[in-house]
Amino acid sequence: MSQQPILVFDSGIGGLTVLREARVLMPERRFIYVADDAGFPYGNWGEAELTQRILSLFAELIARFRPALCVIACNTAATLVLEPLRSAFADTPFVGTVPAIKPAAERTRSGLVSVLATPGTVRRAYTRDLIESFASRCHVRLVGSENLAGMAERYIRGEKISRDAIQAEIMPCFVEKLGRKTDIVVLACTHYPFLANLFRSLAPWPVDWLDPAEAIARRALSLVTTGPLVSHAPDLAIFTSNDPDFAIKRLMSGFGLTPEQMRH
Ligand code: DGL
Repeated sequence: MSQQPILVFDSGIGGLTVLREARVLMPERRFIYVADDAGFPYGNWGEAELTQRILSLFAELIARFRPALCVIACNTAATLVLEPLRSAFADTPFVGTVPAIKPAAERTRSGLVSVLATPGTVRRAYTRDLIESFASRCHVRLVGSENLAGMAERYIRGEKISRDAIQAEIMPCFVEKLGRKTDIVVLACTHYPFLANLFRSLAPWPVDWLDPAEAIARRALSLVTTGPLVSHAPDLAIFTSNDPDFAIKRLMSGFGLTPEQMRH
């Protein structure tokens, strides 16, 4: 079982923020990173089309790699396809990143919490249900950003991103109500932790930026067996475009991932 890899999936590079935590907790495991960059960004996809796309991708990936576990390191995907994936591939365990609304509601002191996500995640019934079930006593502001995931992709490629443009995306997260202020912003897109330092420096007041990556990695760890550290086949990075640019290839090699074709 510990020979089987763990598959980490996102629409782009965002899932690397989860992969790095998973590696810390499971150093002996082999990882396959899959970015559906041919479908990026997921934020504005229709729900039926996106579900179908991800289900067929996983049919191929599961048949090819027989993963011990799949981590859907994408809130936009997980809030939609986690259940369909679990029923379609009942023998494979799935863990998903979904907005960390419950921990935010437990931690907030002001009662004002914001959820920064893609427009898709903000629209999901799954997200509304989380708020209703766990944060009904808080004021939750949902902020669906059209641009931030793309900005994170460009930032990580070394392109210059305007600070004003980033600030404009995060400002709706900051709410003042009856003398109280937002004190927690949930990073509900795995791309956003790459921009967290910029967010901190641009925030009108300090808040806790909640990144669930470590919690997701811990959940993943609880579902697999661990074993001794032995050498294994290299960790792979698959881009569904089969055509990542130089900057992305360099990023992958920095993460110790070997490029691999989606289809041979
Ligand atoms: N990283 C993805 C998420 O966690 C979204 C990126 C996108 O495709 O827009 O929601």
